[in-house]
Amino acid sequence: MVKKTCLVTGCAGFVGSHLTDALLRAGHNVVGVDNFFTGYEHNLAGFRNNPGFEFHKASITDKGLLEQLKGKHPDLDVIFQLAAIVSVPYSVEHPQLTMEVNYEASERMLSSAQRLGISTFVFAGSAAEYGDESRLPVLEEYADQATQLSPYGVAKFKSSALIRNSGFGCSLRFFNIFGPRQDPTSQYSGVISKFVDLGMACKKMVVYGDGKQTRDFIYVDDVVTSYLIAAGLDANGRGPLKGIFNVGTGKCTSVLELAETVADLTCAPKEIEFRPERAGDIKHSYADVSKISRSGFKAEVTFEGGLSRTLSWAAENKTWKCLCVIN
Ligand SMILES: NC(=O)c1ccc[n+]([C@@H]2O[C@H](COP(=O)([O-])OP(=O)(O)OC[C@H]3O[C@@H](n4cnc5c(N)ncnc54)[C@H](O)[C@@H]3O)[C@@H](O)[C@H]2O)c1
Repeated sequence: MVKKTCLVTGCAGFVGSHLTDALLRAGHNVVGVDNFFTGYEHNLAGFRNNPGFEFHKASITDKGLLEQLKGKHPDLDVIFQLAAIVSVPYSVEHPQLTMEVNYEASERMLSSAQRLGISTFVFAGSAAEYGDESRLPVLEEYADQATQLSPYGVAKFKSSALIRNSGFGCSLRFFNIFGPRQDPTSQYSGVISKFVDLGMACKKMVVYGDGKQTRDFIYVDDVVTSYLIAAGLDANGRGPLKGIFNVGTGKCTSVLELAETVADLTCAPKEIEFRPERAGDIKHSYADVSKISRSGFKAEVTFEGGLSRTLSWAAENKTWKCLCVIN
């Protein structure tokens, strides 16, 4: 396969660091950009000294960023736009900043990429683009009639629509991603990383509502595979993709099932603590994955397999100090 120079924005984040790892392992060069808003220097540790990696501490909102990077790296030909404000509650408190980072910066990046003759643009979309959709599993076109529930959802939807309408690049709408390096310390982090954190600290699982709410949990390695397919960099020759694609497993798992599985796999008590349902929580969400499956993509890692890999990582890295905020 032809070796490419790829820009990964958000490379110090959970998913961005896994994607950077995979690209470097496949022999590509990576130009990484992050401003450490929610990312960490330690997420770069595995590849910081790799000669194929060059890091730029910058914000994707910096005007002329892509022009500057292309000037320094003339071979830059693939863009993975992952950098974003990722917290839904934070986006509600800071709608303007969320629009600047999650929409306007992508709009600018997309038009600069076209002007500079870059061949490939892959954007991290989100299931939040569907709002509280009651038709399940969720099909890509439902987002066009949806009311997004937060500035995060609106900005992601506007970016995806822009990409589709431009006929250039693709947006992958991810459901609930989990795996090593997901940060449990924020009160806004994903439910799996919080349960893993509680489990490793032998603490009781805390479930809001009856726990029957369901989510489509996809392991980070499968997410990385979907990025490589989308960019036409898959080792098995799948892709590239154009337009908008759901990325999930197409299966739903209840939060209670998740809590019980984590409790079984760790020293946490089997008894679950139930707390009142939280306002605004979506009841059910899972992806119709038929569109992306036509490219040959299928999530390969089982929920249990992914969970045990995440727990092993948490044990090895001693991330189990139970720093998570259960409020
Ligand atoms: N984790 C999930 O379940 C999930 C689901 C759907 C979509 N996504 C999307 O996937 C992408 C990656 O998410 P993640 O889970 O790895 O989150 P993350 O917070 O770990 O990664 C986001 C990264 O973007 C960086 N960043 C934020 N603002 C920036 C800016 N202005 N300039 C440069 N860098 C900036 C952060 O510092 C961080 O390193 C995001 O776009 C997110 O919206 C994630």
